[in-house]
Formats: sequence, C-alpha cells, structure tokens
Amino acid sequence: MTTQDTELLYLPSDLQKDLLPQHVAVIMDGNGRWAKRQGLPRIMGHKRGVDALKDLLRCCQDWGIKALTAYAFSTENWKRPQEEVEFLMSLFQRVLRQELREMVEENVQIQFVGNLEALPTALQAEISYSMAETKNNQSIKFTVATNYGGRQEILQACRAIAHKVQDGILKPEDISEELFASHLYTAGIADPDLLIRTSGEMRLSNFLLWQMAYGEIYITDTLWPDFDRREFHRALCAYQQRERRFGKV
Ligand code: IPE
Ligand code: IPE
Ligand code: MG
Repeated sequence: MTTQDTELLYLPSDLQKDLLPQHVAVIMDGNGRWAKRQGLPRIMGHKRGVDALKDLLRCCQDWGIKALTAYAFSTENWKRPQEEVEFLMSLFQRVLRQELREMVEENVQIQFVGNLEALPTALQAEISYSMAETKNNQSIKFTVATNYGGRQEILQACRAIAHKVQDGILKPEDISEELFASHLYTAGIADPDLLIRTSGEMRLSNFLLWQMAYGEIYITDTLWPDFDRREFHRALCAYQQRERRFGKV
C-alpha cells in the first residue's frame, strides 16, 4: 500500500456499504506493458502484479467485500514464450507458499478454478494444501483462476452432465441453469457483480463467460501493477452509479 493510500484504509465516505458489489472479479492485464515502459523484462511486471493483487485483497477485506476472483493465467497463456510461462508457474508457487500463513491468520479462504490437473505437480500440491488449510475461513472468498478458460469450463460441464444422462443419473429435462452452474469450476461461488479489466482492453478474453451474463464491466487504462486503492475506489464509484436492470424496465 502506498502512503497516499493509507487514508483509504476504511471505506470511503462516498461509497454506500449496502450498494457495494458482493463479488468483484479482475482481469489483471498490462503487466508486460508496465515492465516495458520501465525498461524492464516482462517478468518484472508479473512480480509487481502480485503486489497489486495482495493490496486489492487487503482492500476488499478492509472495505467489507466478501468475494474476489482474479484471472491469473488463461488456457491461451500457454502460447507465450516458454521462459515466461515457467516464470509464472514458479511465481504462483512461491507466492502461495509465502502468503499462506498470512491468509490463514487473516481468515481468507483461497480456492483455485481452472484445469488444475495440467499445472506443474509441485504447484498442484501447493494449491491443494492452501485450499485445505483455508477451507473453513470466512472473512473473504478469494478465487484464483489458473489455467482457466470459460469455453473449456463450459465444455467440461457439458461432458460431465452428458455422462450423468448416459448413466441414467439425470434426465435431459433436469438440466436447468442451476444444475449447469453446479458443474462449472465456480460451483458454489456467486456470479460476479463487477468485473474490472485493467490496461484498456475491451474484451473478456475467455473469462467467466457463463457467470458474466449480467455482471457489470469496468475498464480502466491503468496497467495492472499500477492498480491501487484509488483506482479501486473509482471503479466502485462507477459501479454504484450503474442501474442494473437484469432485462426489466
Ligand atoms: C497480464 O499481463 C498477466 C497475465 C496474462 C499472466 P500481460 O502479461 O498480459 O501484460 P500485457 O498485456 O502483455 O501488457
Ligand atoms: C487475460 O489477459 C488473461 C489474464 C489476465 C490472466 P491476456 O493478456 O492473456 O489477454 P489478451 O491476449 O489481451 O486477450
Ligand atoms: Mg495482456
């Protein structure tokens, strides 16, 4: 947290507690461009990105937001140069190990969504351990989307449901929105109310395709490593001005 931000330790007075989003999701984009602008290698942007995420998690706790989901690695990100992919995998593992104790102390429940089986085995082990250690924690549900793709998530749900129909466990007419959602990686997690994307790109990049049917989208030009409490405050102010109609008049 920067010194300027310490004045934002508590919920800013222009935000209404009862109008806060229950669940915020973020597409943490722009790490590479941030590094390039500083004349640094891309991986330095990812390192700084971790600090921005830690501060956002803390901020959500300080301001009473009960769920945060962050997009850390997409199913398409494997197409990046091998050194960058390897750096990211080892960064995830290192950060998870370093931060677990604090998450336990702070009552954070961490969970991972995505095709976790394709991740390096050492990272998978760290993920399982951290999820088990924090599973009963109540202060905030912190979800990290890793090797996550919305289309792939929908396909694996279809396959699982098709198998159940084939085995006679379900009938086709049993397939409702609720049943379908319960087969997604995000089963048990409410849909996001607000999705923030940094670095100005106006696309979902395969993130939460089903879950974002009615979520509000906020895009800022700020690059992810520079996203701080002031920026988050701005996003929440914008969210509170929105009228969510859900198809009604
Ligand atoms: C987002 O930053 C982090 C990941 C996708 C892992 P980028 O690495 O996409 O940064 P830009 O978009 O190239 O600037
Ligand atoms: C989306 O960012 C994925 C993550 C933030 C993890 P990308 O940088 O991969 O998305 P595109 O390629 O600009 O759509
Ligand atoms: Mg990007």
